Parts: sequence; C-alpha cells; structure tokens
Amino acid sequence: MARVLVTRHLPEGGLDPLEEAGHRLVRRDLDVPYTQAELVQAVADVEGMVCLLTDRIDREVLAAGAAAKLQVVGNAAVGYDNVDLVAAAELGIAVCNTPGVLDQTTADLAFLLVLAATRLASGAERDLRAGRWEGWGFMDHLARDVHGGILGLVGYGRIARQVARRAEGFGMEVLHHTRTPTGFPGYVGTLSELLATADVVSLHVPLTDATRHLIGAAEFSTMKPTGVLVNTARGPVVDEEALADALEAGTIFAAGLDVFDGEPALNPRLLAAPRAVLLPHIGSATIETRTKMARLAAQGVAEVLAGKTPPNLVSL
Ligand code: GLV
Repeated sequence: MARVLVTRHLPEGGLDPLEEAGHRLVRRDLDVPYTQAELVQAVADVEGMVCLLTDRIDREVLAAGAAAKLQVVGNAAVGYDNVDLVAAAELGIAVCNTPGVLDQTTADLAFLLVLAATRLASGAERDLRAGRWEGWGFMDHLARDVHGGILGLVGYGRIARQVARRAEGFGMEVLHHTRTPTGFPGYVGTLSELLATADVVSLHVPLTDATRHLIGAAEFSTMKPTGVLVNTARGPVVDEEALADALEAGTIFAAGLDVFDGEPALNPRLLAAPRAVLLPHIGSATIETRTKMARLAAQGVAEVLAGKTPPNLVSL
C-alpha cells in the first residue's frame, strides 16, 4: 500500500482505481491550491500524486519527491506543460496524463466558440442583458456565416480531428496544418497558407518552446480581415497583446478563447476587446469527462505503483 497525494477535489468515483488497489489517499478538506512550498513539503511523504494543470510540478517539487519516495505524477489533464518532464525523466519519476477521454468534450467546446465568436453571440447577449435591445433590427448584430466557410486547424491530433467532424456537419470545408505532413486530405504545407485561406482558425497544438506565441502580429495580418481565431489549446500559444491589437484594429473579425496566458489573470486589453468570446478554461468541464480524466490519471498512478507501464505514460 502506498500513499498518494491528491492536490484538489475530484469528481465522485474518480479515484476508485487507487482506492481499489488499497492505496491511502492524502487529501485536504479544503479545495484550495497548494502553494509551491506546500507542494514541496507534501510530495516528500508520498509515493504517487494526482495533480491538476494548475499545479506547477517543477524541478524543485520533483526533486523533493525523488529525494524521498515519489515514483509517479498523474496529471489529470491531457496537456502537461505544467510538469517539468526533463526533470521528471532525470529523477526517474513517471508522468501520466489523460489522452483520449476528453477529445469529444473539448471539441464540442471548441465548436461552441467557433459558433459563438463567428455569430458574435456574446456581444449580442451583453446588449440584451444591458437593456440595449430596442427590437429586431435588420442591420443589427450582423455577424458572419459559419456554414460554407473554411476551418483551418493548427495541429491535427485527436481533439482537432473531432473538431473537424463537427465542422463538416456544419457545412464547412476543413484544412489542417502540422509541422510534419499528415498525409491526410486537407493538409496545408505552411501555417501562413492555412491562415490566409481559413475563415476560422482553431488552435490544437500543445504548449512547447516551439509553439509559444505561434500566433502573433505577423500571423494576424496574414489572416483574413473576416477571419476568426479560436483557442482551446493553451493561452501562451497566442501573443495576447497582438490579438488585442488585431481585434481593436479589425485586422481579424473575432476571437473565441477558452485559455489565457497567465490564467486566471486576464489581460485587461482582451477583456475590453471588441468581438471576443471569453470562457474560463472549461474545454473538458463536464461531469462525465472530468470523472473519466480523474480515473485515467488515478489508473496511471496505480499502474506505475504496481510496477506496470500504463498506456497514458508521457514520454519526453
Ligand atoms: C485541459 O486543458 C487539459 O489539458 O486537459
């Protein structure tokens, strides 16, 4: 029996794989984030941990764990830019994530943003709630059509492909770009060609050194002035100052964002920017999916603790 730190509250049943294996869960009554100092202290007393993307599992935390008996980190998210993978590998600590179980839910949310941003839904609702609706107006709230447009996917992993299915159902043509050719129909060889062609650009790349600020001023000026940007990946993939400039100047038409650089802090210019739909990182936030994510992270931890190699092990 091992001790497993669980940094935050998780849905009912989410930790069953660990409980069924007889492990002792180390949890706090209050669902508040650990400070870095608290994390460093807490990992020194456990063999495994289940954490969230909001926990920064940096070298200091991992080293404190490795100096004691930490063997595995289960990150209850598909993205793992919050975990220092290089340090984990050097220190012999396994890292698991939650691929597959959130693809459909996150794609639903990405498509919600495609629709809401392209049809200017948030601004229209804001007007209604603020008492600014004076009646059905032929020339009011004129947005753009989703159907008949071209969706450009940046990245073509599991979530992007699910977004593609939804877009096809809405009568869109779907193109995609990745650094390595996919061999699939709709592949576009350069990012700039994709940006120049697409009516809606949706980002589906992990956050790495290569993708930080992938979309900046030059990319916005390559997009159509009628173009819409959707980001459900990670905030820092977009240069938010350049995005605010593009929205203010009308260089692009609209944006739908679920993720932010430095979240939960928000760039005030984005909050004030016209034609932006902003959501608080809820891509995978359904009861069903969050339960599956917790279970998969817990299962990965349980398998590593049992000396097995789980399928959701992240490698460098
Ligand atoms: C959510 O952003 C995740 O990476 O699971």
